[in-house]
Amino acid sequence: MPGTSVIGLQWGDEAKGKLVDLLTKKHEIVVRYQGGANAGHTVVVGPETYKLSLIPSGILSAEVQCVVTGGVVINPQTILAEIDGLVARGIPVAENLMISDRSHVIFPWHMLEDRLLDESTADGENIGTTQRGIGPCYRDKVGRSYALRLGDLFQPTLRDRIEHIVSVKRKLLSALDESLIDTLDAEAIFEEYANYAERLRPYVADTNAYLLDAVESQKKILFEGAQGSLLDIDHGTFPFVTSSNSSGVGVSAGSAVSARFIDRMIGVVKAYSTRVGGGPFPSEQENAAGEHLRERGNEYGTVTGRPRRCGWLDAVALRYSVRLGGVDEVAIMLLDVLSGLKELKVCVAYEIDGEETKEFPSHVDQLRKARPVYETLAGWEEEIQEVRTLDDLPQAARDYLDFISRYVERPFTFVSVGPERSQTILCPSQVASYSRA
Ligand code: GDP
Ligand code: IMO
Ligand code: MG
Repeated sequence: MPGTSVIGLQWGDEAKGKLVDLLTKKHEIVVRYQGGANAGHTVVVGPETYKLSLIPSGILSAEVQCVVTGGVVINPQTILAEIDGLVARGIPVAENLMISDRSHVIFPWHMLEDRLLDESTADGENIGTTQRGIGPCYRDKVGRSYALRLGDLFQPTLRDRIEHIVSVKRKLLSALDESLIDTLDAEAIFEEYANYAERLRPYVADTNAYLLDAVESQKKILFEGAQGSLLDIDHGTFPFVTSSNSSGVGVSAGSAVSARFIDRMIGVVKAYSTRVGGGPFPSEQENAAGEHLRERGNEYGTVTGRPRRCGWLDAVALRYSVRLGGVDEVAIMLLDVLSGLKELKVCVAYEIDGEETKEFPSHVDQLRKARPVYETLAGWEEEIQEVRTLDDLPQAARDYLDFISRYVERPFTFVSVGPERSQTILCPSQVASYSRA
């Protein structure tokens, strides 16, 4: 069973793109299976930095087939711009990219709904979405009657369907903002999307059929998760989540590949915590430590440029994500960002209503009340971006890694000490000391 899965274990931006890029050379197919252009995955190769949004990070390797499955929501304009950007930089895309005809299409009304509805929430209830139309598109998918899939763009009924949907959306949206009634023009949208469809035609395929065949012929498949486990629609910090299953449980539903064929689940964790947008964040540090993390980690959103909220590693949340996702091993990223901090804190329990617990609460109000219980570890002064073996890390850094690993009861198999491909410590020997049963 040749499937490997990479998922984020926090609130996104754990450096999944970097890890997928590292693993790509051992795989034949790389798959994006949920989310959309809310994702921003960075891959740094020498002097070149690539920011991938809808296209799998595997696209940078010419010999790999990249697949965007039906679980993804696609803004055609965005993916076409991404394709053009890659081609302009000499990356071959034409032969290497396949997009599912089952994927759902984001339309201008989804972007409007995203903005208007998030702005209309009560104080403190604002999700702070990326405003890419992700939630409204998934909402229409679940509602069915007003949704269009990529395959629908090639049907003769497209003009009529757009006309009908626009007539309904105009009524709905004008209730929120009357001035918007005329901004949705069915004919113009039809023309625009029919044109996108023609440009996308060479990439569109039945990716279920392709992947099910690939599984049968034992192809090595790498699944690239977007967002992070705590943003999962069902299992994250609802309602401050994204609209897809972004934890380990989402891989099969989004890709059409049964979990039975995924034999290696790698969870990606940043050495500290960040979050963009609203929602509770018990270990958040709005102080000098948080500032250190934001500046050293360059914690500004890849998609929206918003400053990310920063805080100490939350091991309670991490343990939850690891167990939820069936994670076998963890990759610990951005360890270099911690250099220069005198002491490091790790949240090892929550105190909620006077009770201490290691369980991650199911209700957001409980999480809001959670007071972090910290364990304090020694920091280190040394810069570690040039370190390539565990032995060469400062003792305090090794102790920090061991502490995380012991807490979540999983080995760490990669440690990242800088954005570039080569700034990585590979630690396969760790696996031997843990049973992967
Ligand atoms: P993703 O969404 O999980 O792929 O992560 P992002 O690309 O949004 O954010 C991760 C950021 O950290 C990117 O700017 C990466 O180039 C950068 N990065 C990745 N690994 C490391 C690392 O080990 N150290 C540092 N300092 N930066 C890293
Ligand atoms: P990657 O794949 C970090 C956050 C948004 C917002 C919430 C809902 O790069 O890790 P949405 O637009 O999805 O409806 O927004 O989810 N969010 C992310 N945060 N990384 C991401 O992706 C994210 N995708 C969505 O900031 O709080
Ligand atoms: Mg990102």
